[in-house]
Amino acid sequence: MKKILVTGGLGFIGSHVVVELQNKGFNVVIIDNLSNSRIEVLENITSITGIKPDFYQIDLRAKVDVQNFFQDNSIDGIIHFAAFKAVGESVEKPLEYYENNIGSLVYLLQEISDRKISNFIFSSSCTVYGQAEDLPITERAQIKQPESPYGNTKKIGEEIIKDACGAYDINAIALRYFNPIGAHDSVKIGELPLGVPQNLIPYITQTAIGIREQLSVFGDDYPTADGTAIRDYIHVVDLAKAHVLALQRLLDKKNNQNFEVFNVGTGKGSSVMEVINTFERVSGKPLNYKIVERRQGDITAAYADTTSANEILGWKSEKTLEEALLSSWKWQQKQ
Ligand code: UFG
Repeated sequence: MKKILVTGGLGFIGSHVVVELQNKGFNVVIIDNLSNSRIEVLENITSITGIKPDFYQIDLRAKVDVQNFFQDNSIDGIIHFAAFKAVGESVEKPLEYYENNIGSLVYLLQEISDRKISNFIFSSSCTVYGQAEDLPITERAQIKQPESPYGNTKKIGEEIIKDACGAYDINAIALRYFNPIGAHDSVKIGELPLGVPQNLIPYITQTAIGIREQLSVFGDDYPTADGTAIRDYIHVVDLAKAHVLALQRLLDKKNNQNFEVFNVGTGKGSSVMEVINTFERVSGKPLNYKIVERRQGDITAAYADTTSANEILGWKSEKTLEEALLSSWKWQQKQ
């Protein structure tokens, strides 16, 4: 049984990936420092799959702890999520973002190159494309100067991994996510935003349940059909399955290059107003919202060309926006 390390495995996307890995028979060990996650998630994963993953509360910047971990555990592959992820916060605390997101990535890569662990999956983002010239966005689209230090840590992270793959015997895949939303069907794991959510879907569900008074729609003067910005909202369980296929590709040594990238999205763009209307329909709850100014740094439209993920990874998103929003709503109601 292959033993897979999932860093940040108690977070939103990480926890869903742990479940899918366990469903496919992998032995999973989690490293998480609990800085933006809760220990209860470990019990919730266990209650979904019936298998308790091994868990180490380690901060990946603590080099000695990381070394000790790898001394004690023989690892076949790594899926690396552990990182700070708030765009706005990263503008205020850029050095913390660089230290945490880049520092921990470098330590991890040093460990795996020393120990000849080859298989590495990186959690990247469509933010590396900025506002792409052409839609849908392929992996060949130009990489832009990121709008935020957070986005820059994803861009630099990919570059560091690529260089490391070239120099050492490492094979890696970066998955560039579009907008992950939704929650597990069991309603036992989902997104747990700290404080006021920055992202659209948790803000919508918190408004619908009465935690927030009103949703601000950031701009209705974009050059889109209804004037609101367009994104590609991908169900987190679909996204999680893409990680398992990417990992399997590396374990089977089917990769064509030592560093590959894949977009992971649905391929379908939805405007903010379409998301609001769909949410109201599936939840039966009218949403209190108002149109305000554009949010600084936001782009007009991004949605994925998923041909590579479809044809090379053999992955396709299965869940609709309706299903994703309904699962987010059920998750919110359960909190
Ligand atoms: N939006 C609102 N009101 C809100 C929150 C969001 O109108 O309260 C709008 C945004 O303006 C945007 C859309 O909803 O048009 C989606 O916004 P999110 O914040 O949910 O997602 P973003 O596309 O801005 O950000 C996501 C990820 C980031 C990543 C970025 C890359 O959350 O991690 O994509 O483009 F960096």
